[in-house]
Amino acid sequence: MLATKKRVIMISGANRGIGFETAKLLQNKGYFLSLGARKTDEINIKDDKNKLIKCEWDAKDKNSSKKWVEQTLNSFGKIDGVVLNAGVELGGDLDGDTEEEFDEMFEVNFKGPLRLVRESMAELRKSGSGRIINVVSLAGKRPRKSTMLGYSASKFASMSLTNAIRLSGWNDGIRATSVCPGMVKTRMTDEVIVPEGHFKMEPEVIAQTIAYALTLPNSAAVAEILVNSRLEDMF
Ligand SMILES: NC(=O)c1ccc[n+]([C@@H]2O[C@H](COP(=O)([O-])OP(=O)(O)OC[C@H]3O[C@@H](n4cnc5c(N)ncnc54)[C@H](OP(=O)(O)O)[C@@H]3O)[C@@H](O)[C@H]2O)c1
Repeated sequence: MLATKKRVIMISGANRGIGFETAKLLQNKGYFLSLGARKTDEINIKDDKNKLIKCEWDAKDKNSSKKWVEQTLNSFGKIDGVVLNAGVELGGDLDGDTEEEFDEMFEVNFKGPLRLVRESMAELRKSGSGRIINVVSLAGKRPRKSTMLGYSASKFASMSLTNAIRLSGWNDGIRATSVCPGMVKTRMTDEVIVPEGHFKMEPEVIAQTIAYALTLPNSAAVAEILVNSRLEDMF
């Protein structure tokens, strides 16, 4: 497995939920971290070893990714991995009469990450074992409710992003993995009440899954990891 120490990892949406748990876990494993959030003062992680920076990153801001990559290189001189974690779930009902939530979800769940990948790919190629972990969703794997058409479509697009990275990066040692969780206990699902006997998984579980995917060697490419909180025929 790849060593964790001395590798530089960027994580988007590191201020809460899955991104926050991932940042804490990777810090304990000894990585250098470049943490992105819309409000950096919300990233409640301390660093006394000069191994962590906090950078402003807004998925909807077209200049944000370039700046974040530059800041990361200024501090650490290289990039070995990117965790595309930030995302929004606004539904996007088939029967709705606006397109605003569709635009927002495509911007945050697909186009923002796409811009970040474009800005960081050259550095990941130089690494020789660059990793991109894309936090997608089981909503990017199969249909669910017609009221979630927008979210699901943006996450299907996000799956395509992982696949494009896999194809483009292979010869330079880049490996990309889609981590696709079912229901996770974060602010995103605060208002969802699960039926008796069903679960919301803890965000720490997804953090551990991301950490595992980051350490797979070039010889063991894992395109997708599906993690469900309930029984479904296919996964
Ligand atoms: N929770 C689930 O059941 C579940 C299931 C499958 C997949 N996922 C995926 O997991 C990822 C993390 O979600 P979570 O469950 O941890 O939810 P969360 O607690 O709601 O966190 C979402 C994160 O995305 C950030 N974000 C939202 N809009 C942004 C923007 N325009 N620019 C930059 N960052 C932005 C948020 O930052 P702010 O604090 O600034 O809003 C926050 O850090 C998402 O991609 C989500 O789709 C979640």
